Amino acid sequence: MQSKKQAIGIFDSGIGGLTVANAIQKLLPNERIVYFGDTAHLPYGDKSAKAIQHYAKGISHFLLGKDCKMVVVACNTASAVAFNEVKKACGRLAIPINVIDPVVKELGKQQTVKKVGVIATKRTVSTRVYTKRILKSHPELLSTELATPLLAPMIEEGFFNNKISQTIINSYLAKKNLDNIDALILACTHYPLIQKEIENYYKGKVQILDSAHAVALAVQQELTSKKLLSDNREGEHEFYVSDFTESFEQTARIFFPEEIHLREMNLWA
Ligand code: DGL
Repeated sequence: MQSKKQAIGIFDSGIGGLTVANAIQKLLPNERIVYFGDTAHLPYGDKSAKAIQHYAKGISHFLLGKDCKMVVVACNTASAVAFNEVKKACGRLAIPINVIDPVVKELGKQQTVKKVGVIATKRTVSTRVYTKRILKSHPELLSTELATPLLAPMIEEGFFNNKISQTIINSYLAKKNLDNIDALILACTHYPLIQKEIENYYKGKVQILDSAHAVALAVQQELTSKKLLSDNREGEHEFYVSDFTESFEQTARIFFPEEIHLREMNLWA
């Protein structure tokens, strides 16, 4: 059985998932977070489903070993191809949450939306997971997906809110696939950092849905309904990576507003 005092485990292919950790800590400041970024295997967007499933299983066991009450898959690619493995690993020990279902649920609240666009990594788009889930929950909607593989590395290199990033973003958003959309799902951990630039492009005509915020709401809802919300944070957040470099620690600051220290934990050594 889980208890309120246990931490929330969060993992991603790297440090981009810190956008989800940040949304969760803002909404639920009493929760303690244990974060794992699989920097040794980054990016997941280009990996096979089999490899990602193997990594996801190992990380889930690590987070369970850290006594987490919940495992949040803060990576769209891993949520798309490895959520079943995470669910199996969690069993009755922890609550598994993915980044896809919460944002798809949010769509139900957008009365004026008829056509939804999704931007994500190549691997996420290749699974068509968003379209499948959108059509299952909202069969009246049209859905279209576009792989935008340059965006994640661009952001990691610090290119956002400048002319170069706006040019790259504009050229992706101008693609035919995204014509006449009413809403756009930012289906990659990194994209909250370019939300403003995406909004600038659409000038308020398209509703932008950020999965980090939707996930934080889903975490709150799950913990509340299971009476597992912590009333008081005990102890510090912990941040682990499977391969430490100074550059990862610096980039982490882009995604998480507090000074954090990454600890190396190679689960596959
Ligand atoms: N975290 C990944 C995602 O949300 C993006 C980075 C990667 O390809 O690993 O899809």
